[in-house]
Amino acid sequence: MGILGKLVSRSSAVGLDIGSAGIKLVQLQRTKDGVALHKAGSAPTPAGAMKAGVIVDPLATAQAVRSLLEALQIEGGPAVAGVAGPTVVVREVPLPSMSDRQLRKSIQWEARNYISFPVEDSVVEFEVLDREMEGNAGQMKVMLVAAPRDMVDSQVETLELAGLEPMAVETQPFAIMRGLSATNGHYQLTGETTAVLEMGASYTEITIIKGGQFVLSRMIPIAGNAFTEAIKTALEISTEEANELKEKAMRVVLSEEERATLDPAAQQASRAIEPHLDEVIRELRRSLAYYDYQQQQPDATAGDLGVAQILLSGGSARLPGLLEYFQAQLGVPVSVVNVFAQGEVQARGVNQEYLEAQAPSLLVGTGLALRELLLDAPKDSGSPEDHQ
Ligand SMILES: Nc1ncnc2c1ncn2[C@@H]1O[C@H](COP(=O)(O)OP(=O)(O)OP(=O)(O)O)[C@@H](O)[C@H]1O
Ligand SMILES: [Mg+2]
Repeated sequence: MGILGKLVSRSSAVGLDIGSAGIKLVQLQRTKDGVALHKAGSAPTPAGAMKAGVIVDPLATAQAVRSLLEALQIEGGPAVAGVAGPTVVVREVPLPSMSDRQLRKSIQWEARNYISFPVEDSVVEFEVLDREMEGNAGQMKVMLVAAPRDMVDSQVETLELAGLEPMAVETQPFAIMRGLSATNGHYQLTGETTAVLEMGASYTEITIIKGGQFVLSRMIPIAGNAFTEAIKTALEISTEEANELKEKAMRVVLSEEERATLDPAAQQASRAIEPHLDEVIRELRRSLAYYDYQQQQPDATAGDLGVAQILLSGGSARLPGLLEYFQAQLGVPVSVVNVFAQGEVQARGVNQEYLEAQAPSLLVGTGLALRELLLDAPKDSGSPEDHQ
């Protein structure tokens, strides 16, 4: 974030989380006792408008954002957007010790080893976390953040076309961490190892946090679309019917006895998505094992799995029974995130029923909007680009 942004604290800001399936908008306002949710809403992303995390049709997307702004009676103002996708890199890397000035000059070169995308077409940022790495003389620990330039630019363009004032574009894990920090310790990010599964339509992003610090994140291409697809194939129905069944009439079950209580279509649907849920769980185990291996000092509080709690967010976290399924399979406490439930972010202006249902989908948008409102925000090394 630029200097100006730090000095001028804003009275309200919009966080805009544009996903492949849905646009989620959160407007937060500063109040005398903290931060309040002023407006929140969502709308479908126009079909085909987003591909691999890039908004390929900014005009149609901006139109949808504009309609949402009108419906919510929001007139422009500062906004923060997010980027997510397998081409976005957020990771801690060891680099040879050097000054910030040297690093600024060589970061593009150094980043080459860690990003799959051509570095000359990427926005690359860094933050030095530790000048001296324990046991690694001559090395320092750096947080590297990179995203394809067209992905970042497409967000900025869309915001501008929608009449918003783009302040920053940020990566999802940092938005998630900031969103969770708004609950003032309710989700206990400090100390224990936490895994957050942001389950959208195209991707589930696994983010591991320890001691309040980002550890790693991974994108798994299994989320709502894969569930819908599995139901469609199993029941030989259309995508629309499969989606409707998934969102309105099924649940994830823990046993065959429980499955037998569902109607026949829901039974088939619950059976069809289980292999996909199990794959997400395997990927989570892999991520945790990888982290443990790197650390070589298992977290005493985290048990065998190496994690003390799992948080579910994103639209697909709304699937009934999902929390119980993950909890039964993994044996650690699992919660579906609602950053508005604890009253830290007061939510006076927004319909409670809407909020109750949508809260897991609003985590990223909340974290994005908070970026402009919190002066004591967590380290914002997560910005691939600033617009101050
Ligand atoms: N009640 C529900 N039960 C199950 N799934 C749901 C429910 N409501 C929404 N979903 C699913 O959530 C997904 C949309 O969530 P979200 O808005 O977080 O995705 P997105 O951010 O657009 O996707 P991505 O980040 O992967 O590009 C869709 O697959 C939708 O079917
Ligand atoms: Mg998403």
